[in-house]
Amino acid sequence: MKNTLVFLKGKKTTLRPILESDIPLLMKWINDPEVRRFVKRVFPAMESDERDWIKRLHDKSGSDIAIMIEVKGKPIGTMGIHGINWKDRTATTGALIGEKNYWGKGYGTDAKMVLLDYAFNVLNLRKIMSRVFAFNYRSLRYSLHCGYKIEGRLKRQRFSEGRYWDEIILGLFKSDWLPYWEKYQKK
Ligand SMILES: CC(C)(COP(=O)(O)OP(=O)(O)OC[C@H]1O[C@@H](n2cnc3c(N)ncnc32)[C@H](O)[C@@H]1OP(=O)(O)O)[C@@H](O)C(=O)NCCC(=O)NCCS
Repeated sequence: MKNTLVFLKGKKTTLRPILESDIPLLMKWINDPEVRRFVKRVFPAMESDERDWIKRLHDKSGSDIAIMIEVKGKPIGTMGIHGINWKDRTATTGALIGEKNYWGKGYGTDAKMVLLDYAFNVLNLRKIMSRVFAFNYRSLRYSLHCGYKIEGRLKRQRFSEGRYWDEIILGLFKSDWLPYWEKYQKK
């Protein structure tokens, strides 16, 4: 049955809550070596891990938000706002498009802009962070597209594929994002 749940709507993507029935897809994506190499998970993801993750999202409602990205009814990946600090009004975003043939086609940028609108204009957050492995050019590029600025670089921070890589720290203030949002809305 085609899913009709809609939480947020972009120009190319729809964002909806993650369902228990998404677990097989989540496992497929995170276990895929070509996808996994870009994120911090290193152990085989089992069904119970994904189930616990969904449950934790539910339990931690208010500090961690994750959402499924759909393109014309097809789930292609997830995106989230994590570690929300309501005092400082900060959080960190993450994304994982697991359907590889959907990479580099603007879906990530579209979903991220809509999620940032939610973060800034609904949740009233002030600053959003993101962390990217230095070799993840696509992620860096799409983050810069959404207005994030490079704030720092942790030298040789992450071990992956036999060597240490720098980790790039990105930050985005609402005031710096607004011109990007205006441009996105006009496009
Ligand atoms: C990172 C990710 C969310 C980006 O979403 P996306 O839909 O692929 O990104 P977009 O198409 O919106 O934007 C990608 C940009 O990078 C460019 N790009 C695509 N492939 C690239 C590559 N190999 N190297 C450099 N730039 C690349 C695109 O051309 C586009 O820039 P442009 O609009 O100037 O042409 C998605 O690719 C993904 O989930 N990848 C795997 C997991 C991952 O890396 N997660 C993030 C961890 S920090």
